[in-house]
Amino acid sequence: MLSAVLFVAACAATAVAQTITLQAESATLSGVIVGTAVAGFTGSGYVEGFDESTDSIKFTADITTAGLYDLSIVYNGPYGDKYTYIVANGAGSQISLPATTEWKTVSAGQVLLTAGKNALEIQSNWGWYLVDAITLSPSAPRGPHKVTTKPVNKKANADAKALLKYLGSIYGKHILSGQQDQASLDWVTTNVGKTPAILGLDFMDYTESRTSRGASSTDVDKAIAFAAKGGIITFAWHWGAPVGLYDNETEPWWSGFYTRATDFNIVDALADTKNANYTLLIKDIDTIAVQLKKLQNAKVPVLFRPLHEAEGGWFWWGAHGPEPAKKLYRIVYERLTTHHGINNLIWVWNSVAKDWYPGSDVVDIVSADTYSQGDHGPVSATYNNLLALTNDTKIIAAAEIGSVMEPALLKAYQADWVYFCVWSGDFISGGQWNSLSFLKEVYNDEYVLTLDEIQGWKGGKA
Ligand SMILES: *[C@@H]1O[C@H](CO)[C@@H](O)[C@H](O)[C@H]1NC(C)=O
Ligand SMILES: *[C@@H]1O[C@H](CO)[C@@H](O)[C@H](O)[C@H]1NC(C)=O
Ligand SMILES: *[C@@H]1O[C@H](CO)[C@@H](O)[C@H](O)[C@H]1NC(C)=O
Repeated sequence: MLSAVLFVAACAATAVAQTITLQAESATLSGVIVGTAVAGFTGSGYVEGFDESTDSIKFTADITTAGLYDLSIVYNGPYGDKYTYIVANGAGSQISLPATTEWKTVSAGQVLLTAGKNALEIQSNWGWYLVDAITLSPSAPRGPHKVTTKPVNKKANADAKALLKYLGSIYGKHILSGQQDQASLDWVTTNVGKTPAILGLDFMDYTESRTSRGASSTDVDKAIAFAAKGGIITFAWHWGAPVGLYDNETEPWWSGFYTRATDFNIVDALADTKNANYTLLIKDIDTIAVQLKKLQNAKVPVLFRPLHEAEGGWFWWGAHGPEPAKKLYRIVYERLTTHHGINNLIWVWNSVAKDWYPGSDVVDIVSADTYSQGDHGPVSATYNNLLALTNDTKIIAAAEIGSVMEPALLKAYQADWVYFCVWSGDFISGGQWNSLSFLKEVYNDEYVLTLDEIQGWKGGKA
């Protein structure tokens, strides 16, 4: 019934592309069945029985006009919060289906459709939900980006300003290639034949709970050397809890950034500034400030991504919800900028959820980490969530990825990630996440910028 209304409205508005609704009960079903017991569905029934990983609904969408379409799913979720997985013409994405005992419509992102028959498949994933129908309507064209390219830190130095300005100049036109870890970057140079534009490094092995147990790092020296070759630097910080590491057989000290490896409690530590553990956090920040000063003195701006993946909860800084994580982020920001005068940073926030966003006054770039083995899709649902997070006021980056996005899909979906950074080791060189031939295609694509192509970016010459 709703579908008929939409159909007529869309036809009246434009003769070019139409909105269509496809009933689940009329699609090709594998391992699932048609139900009618839960009232309120459209058409002659709905589909239920997603209880095996191989269960699926295969739709065929016959489309007159090729292009990008908004996909939505009409579902019911009586068994709690679930996820489904949608594959449209080969590109997949995971879609959250929050618990509901009513029929609800949820946005499932955008799908690229060709004129003629298109295959859309709902795969079980978590299973245990009911599907009534899917709707496809032509995506409204997106206007130009409104992002700011002025650093949030009023005292940002010329190097930091130049970096954000450069990122703004390529945003939506190109993507910068990036690689975590010097050894993995060298692997790309040797095997792919091109050098990434960005080198990803880590402050992990500079703080005391790790150096006191034998860790050491040369990542800052590597950063200075790579910047001297004209490259761009990003630093994450797998911040080992300063105290309270279990340091036993199952949770060794070197995994001390994980929630499961420490009883360090961020809420208690931040309760007041006199707390001994608050002091230890500040001491760690001061330790990193020494390293950042070296980079600042060497005129190396840094895409700095502290407290990453906070919303996942698997790191101690995210283990007690958004409020303490945001508070700590602001402490890091204040301590480094105001107290230490570190002005070479571009501040990269790394969570998608609204609750976790520390605020537009302390964030230059928003980003996400996304891993889906062998899936070279554009991760457009996540990109669009990040667009919505800041109302398109901040540049968006794919700060960590497993499988690299296919450039043609990035363009088709307008998923304008400004850079990607592939994680180290097997993610880049193991062949399972990215084949060597695919990497060669990506690295030679005109949309993808490599070290040789960004020379002179600081002076605006690139
Ligand atoms: C390590 O410590 C944690 C926390 O006390 C504990 O749960 C775990 O069982 C310990 N592992 C070993 C091997 O003792
Ligand atoms: C600091 O954290 C450690 C590790 O969780 C804990 O054992 C200790 O009691 C904390 N100290 C204070 C003063 O809260
Ligand atoms: C985005 O816009 C919405 C609605 O106008 C507003 O509530 C929200 O605070 C804005 N977010 C940011 C980060 O500016």
